[in-house]
Amino acid sequence: MKNYVKENNHIPVLLKEVIKFLKIKKNGIYIDCTFGTGGHSKQILKRIGKNGFLYSLDKDPSTIKYSKKIISKNFKFINDSFKNLFKYTKKFKINKKVDGILLDLGFSNNQIKNPNRGFSFMLDGPLDMRFNQKRGITAQTWINSSNANEIQNVIKKFGQEKFSKQISKNIVKYRKKKKIKSTLELSNIINKSIYKKNRKRNPSTKTFQAIRIHINKELKNIKKILEDSLKILSVTGRLLVISFNSLEDKIVKKFMKINSTKMFIPSKLPITNTEINILNKGRRLKIFKKIKPSNIEINKNVKSRSAILRIAELINC
Ligand SMILES: C[S@@+](CC[C@H](N)C(=O)[O-])C[C@H]1O[C@@H](n2cnc3c(N)ncnc32)[C@H](O)[C@@H]1O
Repeated sequence: MKNYVKENNHIPVLLKEVIKFLKIKKNGIYIDCTFGTGGHSKQILKRIGKNGFLYSLDKDPSTIKYSKKIISKNFKFINDSFKNLFKYTKKFKINKKVDGILLDLGFSNNQIKNPNRGFSFMLDGPLDMRFNQKRGITAQTWINSSNANEIQNVIKKFGQEKFSKQISKNIVKYRKKKKIKSTLELSNIINKSIYKKNRKRNPSTKTFQAIRIHINKELKNIKKILEDSLKILSVTGRLLVISFNSLEDKIVKKFMKINSTKMFIPSKLPITNTEINILNKGRRLKIFKKIKPSNIEINKNVKSRSAILRIAELINC
């Protein structure tokens, strides 16, 4: 294990905006699906009263220590993926009673700054990239055992990388001589595969993002929690999602849009207005304008620059 600075240096993104749009009720029930180091959770807890409650989840076991620092009878931490949230809300009998669900996607500063996690192409460490290091296969196992086609597809689909073919070809070529074990080894292969370098971005950015998304099944998990949120939120309950890349944001945007619009019924159908109203009845989302960090926030925390906050409220109609 490599040594590194272990202190908590994660700055919660869009904190003021999250608190404002959660519209916290003293007696409300809230769920922070991505606890991290508790930046958002602590501020939510401060605002609920003795009959309010906050459930926080994080799939990374290394976040348990931060949850233990919060001593409150109105708080419960669950070390599990948010893809399993519905199982817990059913167990706690809070379905259709939750006033707010927050998702702050991606990784925390603590995770990226720890070379042993393998998320960073700037720090040398084992190619792991799992949010939960006790489960699933590592990026190292995947990259050394998948065929060139599979690797190319992942890099193209989840990284939108133009040089995916060249990168996957060079990965397979390198592997014939030696197993790829470290982040810098992979980063060097990527560097040699990209001809036109983008000066603003490290050439490894897209490929590392793609492998991380694939290893953690991130997009599948997001789709699952979004669908479940409709069964968990109360009427007037709010869903807040902070995304850090266009793939995540597209999923959130599409989900909110689909669930906000009325069913399309062609005008020539032999159907009465009353029947149209019945078809359109149910729980639907009201969408708010998307929010991006201010220049002041970006200057203080450059990592916030790609964040997009989307907000929706469940309404009955
Ligand atoms: C950007 S950080 C959250 C930071 C947090 N809001 C704070 O202020 O400290 C994202 C967190 O989500 C967690 N995470 C990623 N995928 C998850 C999943 N499917 N279920 C639960 N937690 C997940 C990561 O382990 C990480 O701690």
